[in-house]
Amino acid sequence: MPAAAKVANAVVGPADKPQTPAGTSRDNPVEATFISRALLNKPGSAKETWHIEIDLTECGLDYQVGDAFGLYPHNDPALADAVLRALDAPPDFPVGGRTLREVLIDGISLAPAPDTLFQLLSYITGGERRKKAQALSAGEDPDGDAATLDVLAAIEKFSGVRPDPEAFIEALDPLQPRLYSISSSPKVHKGRVALTVDAVRYDIGKRKRLGVASTFLAGRAEPGASLRVYVQKAHGFALPQDPRTPIIMIGPGTGVAPFRAFLLDRRATGAPGKNWLFFGHQRSDCDFFYADELNALKTSGLLTRLSLAWSRDGDKKFYVQDRMREVGRELWTWLAEGANLYICGDAKRMAKDVERALVDIVAQFGARTTDEAVAFVAELKKKGRFQQDVY
Ligand SMILES: Cc1cc2nc3c(=O)[nH]c(=O)nc-3n(C[C@H](O)[C@H](O)[C@H](O)COP(=O)(O)OP(=O)(O)OC[C@H]3O[C@@H](n4cnc5c(N)ncnc54)[C@H](O)[C@@H]3O)c2cc1C
Ligand SMILES: NC(=O)c1ccc[n+]([C@@H]2O[C@H](COP(=O)([O-])OP(=O)(O)OC[C@H]3O[C@@H](n4cnc5c(N)ncnc54)[C@H](OP(=O)(O)O)[C@@H]3O)[C@@H](O)[C@H]2O)c1
Repeated sequence: MPAAAKVANAVVGPADKPQTPAGTSRDNPVEATFISRALLNKPGSAKETWHIEIDLTECGLDYQVGDAFGLYPHNDPALADAVLRALDAPPDFPVGGRTLREVLIDGISLAPAPDTLFQLLSYITGGERRKKAQALSAGEDPDGDAATLDVLAAIEKFSGVRPDPEAFIEALDPLQPRLYSISSSPKVHKGRVALTVDAVRYDIGKRKRLGVASTFLAGRAEPGASLRVYVQKAHGFALPQDPRTPIIMIGPGTGVAPFRAFLLDRRATGAPGKNWLFFGHQRSDCDFFYADELNALKTSGLLTRLSLAWSRDGDKKFYVQDRMREVGRELWTWLAEGANLYICGDAKRMAKDVERALVDIVAQFGARTTDEAVAFVAELKKKGRFQQDVY
């Protein structure tokens, strides 16, 4: 894509795609205002998770609990400046009507380095370095470091290269939006949306790498700043239509986000259905997100059961699925009474392990073979009684 088109996309979205109603897709974001962030972990935690609030009154964006919120982040300006220094390029070099520095901050992705960047580097370097750049552009890993090469590391690896700034921008990918589960209810938080965001930070060699969107929300976005946002409607992740239906929610870590929204929504509508939340995290004293709210909902009776699992309080890991197994009989009873079951959070391991525990519980307390229990859980999914929002 030519640099000018890339820069234009960074502002309004691709012109050749059909236009959806404003704010309902990544191609058609609207402007909202960043209000605030508050740290959910207490001192001593190994995690950094933020409660984020965003004002929707001006854009008038509407959402339902269960939906996800999309937003276009900005790269860390310090990283953009390091790229400019490594390129020895002027920050105000014009690219598509904007400055090179502006485009590096909000137009293109600075991680990981795409094949097209290595292709460009192969054209402007020679000898062994050209061969290496060609190999990297073909998806090979000549020095065993390909996985660590973000855009800055790639330029530093080929130090001294001076690509034309416009060609450089053309070789990079556009900066993509990120999605977050909504942790508020529009019935309670009128004109606002809340998110629950874990800040991604890790070290590679001597350099700290930052997750773009999570650290943007966790630190760089200033109160009052304008954000480009949209609501991604959930397909198959929503409260039951019948407010009497009991719900079982399993959401460790940031997975609690949509369940905070579900509970607040059910309280606002006076839904009589029973509510059971399984929450887990590393340490009870510093990682119990929304503890006051959840305890108050429990005391008021809205939250029928609150089951907690702290993975690092004891000598052995203890996860939400371990707690589920402990109370398997009651969990089965709820399911037999027609409860819906929801999982939110880590897709790679947690969601699979929780589903395995569910199958075991259905087999043990529902008096079924493992195959029958697997079929029972599959049927729950088919009927929309078992829904997942995992990432
Ligand atoms: C439907 C949906 C809902 C979501 N809801 C939430 C939510 O409620 N809360 C939430 O916090 N997130 C949520 N996410 C995840 C979120 O969209 C982002 O993916 C997340 O915040 C990271 O984005 P980032 O821009 O900060 O990081 P990026 O810049 O995208 O960097 C993340 C990448 O960094 C690399 N990486 C991360 N850690 C390491 C490491 N230790 N070592 C080496 N490489 C590493 C990995 O390649 C990873 O993919 C959701 C995702 C989806 C799809
Ligand atoms: N790449 C990975 O390996 C990995 C792993 C976890 C999360 N993530 C991602 O990190 C982001 C934020 O995570 P988060 O802040 O929501 O918290 P999280 O890192 O998912 O942790 C929440 C809780 O879940 C526990 N946990 C870890 N593995 C589990 C499993 N197999 N089954 C059940 N519970 C398990 C954690 O315990 P312990 O930390 O003590 O093990 C912690 O107590 C998400 O995007 C998630 O997908 C990635």
